[in-house]
Amino acid sequence: MRKGIFITIEGGEGAGKSTLIEQLSNKMLNSGMKITTTREPGGIPIAEQIRHVILDREHTAMDGRTEALLYAAARRQHLVEKVAPALQEGQIVICDRFVDSSLAYQGHARGLGMDEVWAINKFAILDLMPDMTIYMDVSPEVGLRRIAEASEREVNRLDLEKRSFHEKVREGYLRLVEQNPDRIVLINAEQRPELVFNDVLKAIDSRFAGIFATDVKLKRMDIFE
Ligand code: TMP
Repeated sequence: MRKGIFITIEGGEGAGKSTLIEQLSNKMLNSGMKITTTREPGGIPIAEQIRHVILDREHTAMDGRTEALLYAAARRQHLVEKVAPALQEGQIVICDRFVDSSLAYQGHARGLGMDEVWAINKFAILDLMPDMTIYMDVSPEVGLRRIAEASEREVNRLDLEKRSFHEKVREGYLRLVEQNPDRIVLINAEQRPELVFNDVLKAIDSRFAGIFATDVKLKRMDIFE
């Protein structure tokens, strides 16, 4: 039995996941919560090495199924080594991408089929699904423009795909939102970062019945003092 809370953050390129995760982890740490933030593919040495193999811009010969299998392999190791132990300790785990990325990118955008990609991922994760997934929705036009303007960000093999690929990624995500209304919350990530963050806090608070309530009470006291 796991005791913690598993939250995943999803979205296309330039959706602002990293900014959100930084804001969210600061907020949770300030509220006295025990958290682990991590990312996929990666988060631990074995999975970071797999990340390097998958995303290397030289690896243009990589077959779509190989790509899907490597993501699933990295996911399995990361889950066993890092995510599951942290959940077992009762921590809140915030993970930048998880299985929905494989379903949207490899399943839908690469055309391997969401069901097929789900099958190999089911083998990898067994039944360890997120308690909540935040999907940061942004059009490829806005997302890719943001990436082009952020010179410090790494440009990986998947970033170099055509615009139509990124359109399909979004289409895949929107399908997943529709199919999983209890787990996935869509956030309009084209808004200003403060508004995005506010929407995310509201969504988490309502999903986990006032998880930030203590913090909110403290703020109210500050106002009246
Ligand atoms: P990042 O840029 O958000 O770190 O993600 C790395 C890239 O890997 C990004 O282009 C999305 C892609 N990806 C997949 O295609 N499938 C997956 O399962 C995961 C986790 C990431």
